[in-house]
Amino acid sequence: QASYETILVEQKGAVTLITLNRPKALNALNSTVLAELIDAFARFEADKSQGCAVLIGSGDKAFAAGADIKEMVEKPGADFYSEDFFAGWTTQLVKSTRKPWIAAVNGFALGGGCELAMMADFIIASDTAKFGQPEIKLAVAPGMGGTQRLTRAIGKAKAMDMCLTGRNMDAAEAERSGLVSRIVPADKLLEEAMKAAEQIAAMPPLAAMMNKEMVNIAFETTLDTGLLMERRMFQILTATEDKTEGMTAFVEKRPGVWKGR
Ligand code: CAA
Repeated sequence: QASYETILVEQKGAVTLITLNRPKALNALNSTVLAELIDAFARFEADKSQGCAVLIGSGDKAFAAGADIKEMVEKPGADFYSEDFFAGWTTQLVKSTRKPWIAAVNGFALGGGCELAMMADFIIASDTAKFGQPEIKLAVAPGMGGTQRLTRAIGKAKAMDMCLTGRNMDAAEAERSGLVSRIVPADKLLEEAMKAAEQIAAMPPLAAMMNKEMVNIAFETTLDTGLLMERRMFQILTATEDKTEGMTAFVEKRPGVWKGR
């Protein structure tokens, strides 16, 4: 494994556990965090022994309290544009990770922290989690998906409320709104997220990847095209060796053994 300055990466069986590790800065996301996450996710993606990843924040106070304000405070505006600041989160991290991964949110997920959690395939939250898009209070607006992924996740009324007031949403409201898939007690967060990840990592890998791709396509296309693509993807999966094994195993009342082809 590579060694990093701002994150920790461990392989636990078929699950890669990635921990944001700047607890003194509440795991604020600076350029080093981005570069290291891109590298860690690329290694996870390339490693055939790994089937799912979990991203969590170190400490019990925060998943991540946002983009690093200290890195941005004196940066000239023209540089944000010329560097296409924040682009890598979507273009390199989200778009290059075809394998499933889960965000395990302990404590604050604010600004870029909420946006990073929303980049995951789903979010498992501790009962102490707090989500928010407080950028408006800094005289800016979300830049990593807070107006786009949040609106798709929870709808216009709630997304407007969150972005315009900058208020926090607790775990119960986040689950009610569809932002998180489950809430677990804070002291069980890592265990529950790992359990879900192990379940996913034990699935036939091509099917896992395609299920993820198909759900994401729902956000990008019309219903008719989406349904057509869904059928085509289903038909492609029927041509895999794992499909024959999966259906035979069902008929023979035994667990399937997957080859990933
Ligand atoms: N960037 C840099 N440092 C941060 C940070 C951030 N986003 N959030 C917290 N920290 C640092 C604090 O500066 C502090 O460091 P020092 O001890 O060196 O002063 C340390 O983390 C602990 O934070 P607090 O003392 O503030 O802790 P608290 O318990 O009093 O408050 C909090 C916790 C409510 C989360 C508060 O830290 C806070 O409001 N943080 C900023 C939240 C925010 O505005 N996030 C949006 C950032 S902009 C963005 O993300 C843009 C985008 O769309 C991508």
